Amino acid sequence: MFMLFIASDGGSMHTAANFNARQDASMPDSIPTNHAPLALEWSSEKLLRIDEVEFYLTVDLDDLHAHESRTNHFLLGKTRPMVDAVLALRDTESIGRILDVGIFKGGSAALYMKVFAPEKLVAVEYMPQPVETLARFIADNDLASRLVPYYGTDQSNAQAMGRILATEFPDRNVDLIVDDASHFYLESRATVNLTLPYLSPRGLYILEDWGWAHWPGDTWQKSRAIPSTKPALSNLVFELCMLCASRPDIVSDIAVTTNTVVLRRGDAALTPGTFDIGQHYLCRDRWFKPIM
Ligand SMILES: C[S@@+](CC[C@H](N)C(=O)[O-])C[C@H]1O[C@@H](n2cnc3c(N)ncnc32)[C@H](O)[C@@H]1O
Repeated sequence: MFMLFIASDGGSMHTAANFNARQDASMPDSIPTNHAPLALEWSSEKLLRIDEVEFYLTVDLDDLHAHESRTNHFLLGKTRPMVDAVLALRDTESIGRILDVGIFKGGSAALYMKVFAPEKLVAVEYMPQPVETLARFIADNDLASRLVPYYGTDQSNAQAMGRILATEFPDRNVDLIVDDASHFYLESRATVNLTLPYLSPRGLYILEDWGWAHWPGDTWQKSRAIPSTKPALSNLVFELCMLCASRPDIVSDIAVTTNTVVLRRGDAALTPGTFDIGQHYLCRDRWFKPIM
């Protein structure tokens, strides 16, 4: 989902359904999902209920701003196929620890909690005001130790993010990271650098809405949503592809769809705080610079 009021220095997930599941010789034949069946009901393409919690799906920019979350009803900035892709991960992945970057009105954090029932879900948001509906969801479901939101935190702030990650995930074993925050190149790149050392071997990193510079329509092509001075997020995708080619032990797989990139972590140990993807892909002795 893309927002027009993106916070940062200035200012959907189509998980590839066939993305390589955790299946290799070193992995067990069946994924230990230990999930109870979900009481899930789609009453329309825009309305999903899981147990007692309703999710109102929209990616319409006006709707995103106008529609509010309320008790057990969350605005979710995703489409049905995006949510179906999340649901599909239940069958192929074992997801016990999640980092969700970009809280907005709380929909994604509540969705991931309902779908994966993780032991820990940390959510990060630039805006300082806590989302009341999410706070109520946490209190009503006794989730204070498992769903931890951090507000007023810039995804590119190395100190703040480093502190959160070291505190919440000291074993560096996050299974799923979703970046649905600024969608800016530099900020998103910083998040990759800061968080990849915390992603488990074979964990998934999902970068949403990477393709905004290439989407049709004046909103995107005439710089109405994002100033043309901002480098395209696709520069980061290119870097991640190069990383996968040069260092499959860091990124073992990468899958790109119209608006989402899903990469799977290799098993190389990475040092938190100093890791920089730019140091790890090879370009025949040249240096990559953002190309648009
Ligand atoms: C697209 S919305 C998140 C939607 C939510 N994940 C969902 O699926 O319902 C993006 C959120 O990221 C936040 N954001 C924007 N720039 C950010 C930054 N630099 N650091 C952290 N959060 C940021 C925005 O304030 C906004 O709430």
